[in-house]
Order: sequence, then C-alpha cells, then structure tokens
Amino acid sequence: MDRQFAEALKQQDYIIETPNQMTFSYKKSLEEMLLYLADTELTAVFSILSAYKLAPTINHKITCLALMQDELGHALIAYQLLRDLGIDTENLLYERRGDQFNNQYAMDFDITCWEELGVYNMLYDTAGYTLLRDSHKNSSYGPWKRSLKKVEKEEIFHLRNGRTLIKEAMKNEDSKQRVQSAVDWMFLLAYEFFGTNEQFQEKTLSETYRFRLSSNDELRQQWFAIVVPFFESVSIRVPAAYNEQTSSYMLTVPYPCHFDVGNKKWDYERLAPWTDVIRRFVRRGPDINRFITTFQSCYKELASLRQGDDGDG
Ligand SMILES: [Fe+2]
Ligand SMILES: [Fe+2]
Repeated sequence: MDRQFAEALKQQDYIIETPNQMTFSYKKSLEEMLLYLADTELTAVFSILSAYKLAPTINHKITCLALMQDELGHALIAYQLLRDLGIDTENLLYERRGDQFNNQYAMDFDITCWEELGVYNMLYDTAGYTLLRDSHKNSSYGPWKRSLKKVEKEEIFHLRNGRTLIKEAMKNEDSKQRVQSAVDWMFLLAYEFFGTNEQFQEKTLSETYRFRLSSNDELRQQWFAIVVPFFESVSIRVPAAYNEQTSSYMLTVPYPCHFDVGNKKWDYERLAPWTDVIRRFVRRGPDINRFITTFQSCYKELASLRQGDDGDG
C-alpha cells in the first residue's frame, strides 16, 4: 500500500468519498467487503421468508415482513454502493449461481421452526449489528459510513425482536426446548461471523483499510457480551462463558470442530483444522442454491411479463 495513503488512513477524520481518491487495492478490498455485505443482507431475506411461512399469528407475519423489508433495504444500499464504484450489479444479482454468492455461511440455511427466527435475530443480527456499528463509527469510506446510520438502527430492532421471541418461547416447555436446539447448532455459526482467531491472522484488510477499527477478536468479545448474558438470563445453555482469569468470554467447547451439515450438529469430539472450516464455506450450505434459483426465476418471470405488457400496450 502507498505509504502516504496508509498514513492518511490512520487519521480517524480522513474520509474517502470517490474512487479517484482510492488506491487500486483499497478499491478492490472495498468492493469485496461490500459484496460480502450485500450478498449477506440479501440472502437473509430468504431465510426470514422461510420463517414467515411458519409465523404463528398475523402479527408475527407482519414482523417478518418488516424484517425482510429492512434486510432488502440494507442489501439495496450495499449493491448501490457497488454500482457507484462501476460494478455491474444486474449481472451480480441475476446471473451468478447460488454457490457464487459471497454471503455469510449461516445464511445458507432455511429456518425450519418458528423459534429459530428468535435465535437467528439474537445471534446473527447481533453479530451484524456489532460489525456494522464499528464501521458506522470508524469507516474510512464516507458513502458507506453515512448509509450505516439507518442500517444500525434497524439491526437494533432485529436483535430486540430476537429477545422478544425468545422470551415468548420460554413460557412453554416445548418451545423452550426448540430454542435450545436452535442455539445448539446456530451459536457457532454466528461465532464464525467474526472470522478466524487473531492467532491465525494478522491485521485483516478491513482493519488495514479502516472499513472498521476493531479486530475480529475485539468484535467477537463485544458480541459475546451481548448474547451470552442474555441466554444465561433465560436459562438457555450456550457453548461460551465469561472467564474471570482472562477477563474475557471464551468458548467452552473445542473449536474448530466438525459440523454435520445434514443433521445440523457439531461434533465436539472431532476437531477440524481451519482449512476444513474454509472448505465447508466453499462447499456452501444446503439451501443457498434453491434460494437464489427461486429469486432469479421470479425476477426473470416478472421481466418477461413486463415485456409482454409493453408489447400489448
Ligand atoms: Fe441487515
Ligand atoms: Fe438484520
């Protein structure tokens, strides 16, 4: 990286507004980060859509609609920022295969029971909120930094919704058990939002280019500090706890370990190297191809109907 540029980025008030202020590698990393974000926000809609179909009341359905509208809005912001950088977003949205989307792995799964939505909001949206809050405060890219004001507020609504749904579920032994089962498979997938541990990685590109300021480990601690006490307060077991000796939260299970995708079960007896985790990410989860195929075929159907309308008119 250009030395002068690197020095400038260290200044908290140094904000980049246009591509001509960027180095080649800054722009490339920004595009990668925005694509990850755009794809993650978009694919969140499909998981929530699967929860919509399970919603027990009209009010819960309305909540799902609000969540989907928010996530679509977040995706739209990120794709628009990519388009402003000269990226062909039509091609990205409608021509890639599902397994070419760059979303967070946890988004590759259907929600299969109502209680999972509460856990999804509490674990995944809190992870998203933790990451984006830092970027909103510290990002070096002005257009993104400003847009995150809206996103951050809405993510707070999502994580509060998670708390509400989980507290509702605690009133009944069966639904409480379903929350526990959801936490058992979703907790470590949420943990993975924060990337590898620092011992395996030096400064990330997000830190280097100040897309955010905190490290993976610092952000992970912030996330732990929200989710672990909450689940403890409702007597749901999580595979993490506060460690007095290290004054930090730590996993209480071995990780990385093998994840049985078909049965959504972590095998703590079977340790897996990070390369296996990365391989699982590359292989992708079970529902992403269906999500994207459905989304793209609906778009194409609508486009052909529109063409038909034009011809008739
Ligand atoms: Fe979002
Ligand atoms: Fe969200």
